[in-house]
This record gives sequence, C-alpha cells and structure tokens, in this order.
Amino acid sequence: MFGKKKAKPQIDKDQLELIENAQKRIKQKKRLYIHFVLFLIGCVFLIVANTVLGIGKDFTILGKEWFLFAVLIWLFLFLYHVFNVFVTHKFMGKAWEKEQLEKLVSKQQQRINKLKAGFVKEETLIAQREAYSEENSTKQELKTKGNLTIIVAAAENDAIGLGNKLIWHLSDDLKRFKSLTNGHHIIMGRKTFESFPKPLPNRTHVVITRQKNYKAPDGVIIVHNLEDAIDATKQDSQPFIIGGGQIYKQAMSFADKIELTRVHNDFEADTYFPKIDDNAWRETANIFHKKDVDHDYEFSFLTYERK
Ligand SMILES: NC(=O)c1ccc[n+]([C@@H]2O[C@H](COP(=O)([O-])OP(=O)(O)OC[C@H]3O[C@@H](n4cnc5c(N)ncnc54)[C@H](OP(=O)(O)O)[C@@H]3O)[C@@H](O)[C@H]2O)c1
Repeated sequence: MFGKKKAKPQIDKDQLELIENAQKRIKQKKRLYIHFVLFLIGCVFLIVANTVLGIGKDFTILGKEWFLFAVLIWLFLFLYHVFNVFVTHKFMGKAWEKEQLEKLVSKQQQRINKLKAGFVKEETLIAQREAYSEENSTKQELKTKGNLTIIVAAAENDAIGLGNKLIWHLSDDLKRFKSLTNGHHIIMGRKTFESFPKPLPNRTHVVITRQKNYKAPDGVIIVHNLEDAIDATKQDSQPFIIGGGQIYKQAMSFADKIELTRVHNDFEADTYFPKIDDNAWRETANIFHKKDVDHDYEFSFLTYERK
C-alpha cells in the first residue's frame, strides 16, 4: 500500500511511436550491414572453395566458373536489400515520412502557441503592474499635497440630489458646511456649480468640466479633470470636494477625510453618494442632531478618516 509509486512515463504516445520507428530503422540498417559483411566473407569463401580447394572445379556455366554466378546472384540479392532499405522503404516509406513530419510540425506549433500564450500573459501582468504602480504613485503624489476632504450630506439610502437640487433643507448642516469650507478651495462638478444661484462667498471655486470653452464668473477656476482640480488647490492646506455624485465617485480614492452629514431617512433621488468601505475608512466622530422646528429630519455629523 505504501510501496514505491510506479514511475509515470514522461513521454506521450506520439513520441513513443517516433522512438519505436527509429529503433526499427536502426535494426534495418544493422541487418543490411551484417548482410554486407556476410556477402564479403561468402564471396571470399566461394572463390577459395572453387579456386584453392577445387570444389566443383569441373563445373562451369557457359564456360565460366560456377562461383562467378554464385557471387553475381548474391550481389544481386544484396543490391535488392540495399534498394529495399534506402529506396523502396526509405525510412518506412514516403507517406510515413510525411505523416511523421506533420506530427512533428504540429507538435512544434503547439509548443510555440503555448510559449506565445505565456508571453502574452506575462506582458499583460507587467503592463497591469506598471499601470497599478503609476496610478498609485499619482495618488500618492496628489495625496501629499494636502488634507483633501469630501464634504457631503447623504440619506440612509445614500441619496444626495434630485433634479440637480438638494433634497432637504437642514440649516445647521448648511451652517456647518459654511464654517468648514470658509476661506478654502471647493472642488465641484459643473452640474453642482450650476445648481448654485451664484458662487458662494469667501471660497475659491474649482469647477470640473469636459467643455473646453466653459464660461464662468471671474475668480472661478475651470479645469478638465480631477487631478488638475486637486493640483489647483495645492496652496490650500484644507481643500474640499463638495460634489456632486460623479465627482464624489472619482474622488473617493484621493480623499483623506469625509465629513458626512447622515440624514436618517430614505429619499427618492437621481444622484447618490458611493458606499463608504469600512476596510478603507474609520469613523472618528459622530454627533447626533435631533429633529426640531428648523429640521424636518434627524441627522448625524460623522467624520471618517482614511485607515
Ligand atoms: N447632498 C450633497 O451634499 C450634495 C453635494 C453636491 C451636489 N449634490 C447634488 O448632486 C447632484 C449633481 O451631481 P451630478 O453627479 O449630477 O453632477 P456633478 O458631479 O456635480 O457634475 C458632473 C459634471 O462634472 C463634469 N465632470 C465629471 N467628471 C469629469 C471628469 N472626469 N473630467 C471632466 N469633467 C468631468 C462633467 O461636466 P460637463 O458635462 O460640463 O463636461 C459632468 O457632467 C445635484 O442634484 C446636486 O444637488 C448634492
């Protein structure tokens, strides 16, 4: 039961066939060689038997000694053997040769394909690794430029907006937004910017749009991607990302902090805040706010910091 394992043959059926045929061929040639040696010895023997030992001295054919005919017949048989080995069954015949060649070629092709697939896989992995490290180094570079904070008010179902408007009016939340962002850069998407009646006072607006000739009031910085937006705030020690849905989604991996007002209700919406991944974020503050005459809903001020 625990005896030695039977060794598995390492060669496949086709390789085995090739080896067997090669062995047959070697035997064929060996037999021809033995025939040749026997023929030489035989000829000498026949000549000696007739001329020296006088065997059948009186027997002639067409006036010639018999050994001459015996040697000629044997020579003919030997040549026939040579012909058989090298011409008729040249390496087991033409068809056999062709078949073997095709087998070898297809085997080589399979190996080449396997190698190619391996190379492609390796190249893809290298490209992915390079892209990943590039992305990470960009993030690292962007992150080190400041304490980038996302500020948002989201419902229990992560709703943040409907019809390019906020869904609720919570005055204490607006006050908090004003006090936190006062004097700082605020990064936003074009739609959020257009949801304001006019730019917010005492804040530097950085608006992201793909429109190359987008017009905005003086003092508003227009950029065409998030990276440039973050870059535009590098003098600010505390820039904010203020929305909306598209920009929050893209900014989640760049931000260091989230100031979230969680409104404790579900709302119908067309814009949502992305899920906060517990593995990436740690809650560091949680202040509950009751419903009252100025506030239709309960809510909590939550702070998350990147782990
Ligand atoms: N509850 C909250 O705290 C809160 C905060 C802010 C906003 N909101 C709400 O969110 C909603 C708006 O959000 P939204 O997602 O619809 O729009 P958004 O994020 O404010 O803006 C989207 C626009 O930003 C530009 N943009 C986005 N990604 C870009 C990129 N990678 N490169 C260049 N430009 C890019 C595009 O502008 P172009 O089309 O011009 O190219 C795009 O149409 C509104 O309902 C608003 O009231 C809620």
